[in-house]
Amino acid sequence: MENLLKERVVKTFHNLYDSDPEFVVFAPGRVNLIGEHTDYSDGFVLPFAINLGIVLAFSPTNNDQIDIHAIDFDQLFSQKVSKNSKGPADWTAYIKGVIWALKSQIVQLNGFQGVVAGNLPIGAGLSSSAALEVAAAKALCISSNVDLSSPKLAQICQRAEREWVGVNVGIMDQLISACGKRGHAVKLDCRTLETEYVLIPDGICFVVLDTNTRRELSHSAYNKRSEEVELAAQILKVPALRDASLTMLTKEKDKFPSTIYRRARHVISENDRVHAFISAMKNHDLQKMGQLLNESHISLRDDFKVSSEELNIIVDIARAQPGCYGARMAGAGFGGCALAMVDGCFLDDFIHNVHHEYKKQTNIEPPIFSVESSDGVHLVDS
Ligand code: GLA
Repeated sequence: MENLLKERVVKTFHNLYDSDPEFVVFAPGRVNLIGEHTDYSDGFVLPFAINLGIVLAFSPTNNDQIDIHAIDFDQLFSQKVSKNSKGPADWTAYIKGVIWALKSQIVQLNGFQGVVAGNLPIGAGLSSSAALEVAAAKALCISSNVDLSSPKLAQICQRAEREWVGVNVGIMDQLISACGKRGHAVKLDCRTLETEYVLIPDGICFVVLDTNTRRELSHSAYNKRSEEVELAAQILKVPALRDASLTMLTKEKDKFPSTIYRRARHVISENDRVHAFISAMKNHDLQKMGQLLNESHISLRDDFKVSSEELNIIVDIARAQPGCYGARMAGAGFGGCALAMVDGCFLDDFIHNVHHEYKKQTNIEPPIFSVESSDGVHLVDS
């Protein structure tokens, strides 16, 4: 996948600039196994970087001019680092945000000429925007001869998205795109930014079930959840919900408006599920892992209310299939993708049956595919 994409990008670079790119960077998207909507209250998440992402081929310039041709949109982004101004709310906003955030860290930013393309479905909940940010940030660092650690790179990209694009995202997507490791899921402590690599057990596949329905992440619903979660922490008098337990929450129930209580119950129980899921992974307890995925979905659907009709339908269909250990909506929600954990021997039938049944029930064609784990952002041979 990565190679096919790379060939396309390098070929276009050659056609446009009549030379080979000096560097080619791949920044992956991600799936999150468990720990949904916990990152922006300092909690725990367990994503892995996937073999789909963004490829950016580039050659540094000796000035502050940045030119990026996006194959997927057939558009050219062209700008001087020193002259950054707000523009349309499209893919270029992520690039502008990254330039703006990096400028506060790096005194002399050098530009580049580049070509970019991706093979992630856009806006589906697989972190296409974080991958674009991380690829652009990495390219700018290389062009400017600066080496930033993965957490630093992720923080800069997160800042771009929060303060430039205007969505109050947590750190998960940018951090996993920066620090993923093939064969492993990564437990991220979203307060300390510490990482623990957890081996993905053999014999199982993680399958993306794209409902083919979309709702913009920048939609106010995401920011509203982040405000609700903050309010819950204030009521409990803790710095963030990461510091609360279910016992604490139950004791203080009377102080809560019922919606905020349920939002808090999701976040606190979801943090617990991350730890339980990691223990199950280490013990190769596949049934338990599946059960926790199912519980996560119910909590996101009923307490956090970020699921959708189509997500619930596809999750129910997936769970009813032979060889499926569990499934849940994944990512920000309100549309986009669900994730299923499936016994590898059942994979082909699983994909076929879920596709058929979802199409029958909704009349929507769902892209369904299994994903492999990948390393975080890295240079690939041009
Ligand atoms: C989006 C955000 C992440 C995280 C997830 C939900 O992907 O970018 O920071 O909050 O939603 O877990």
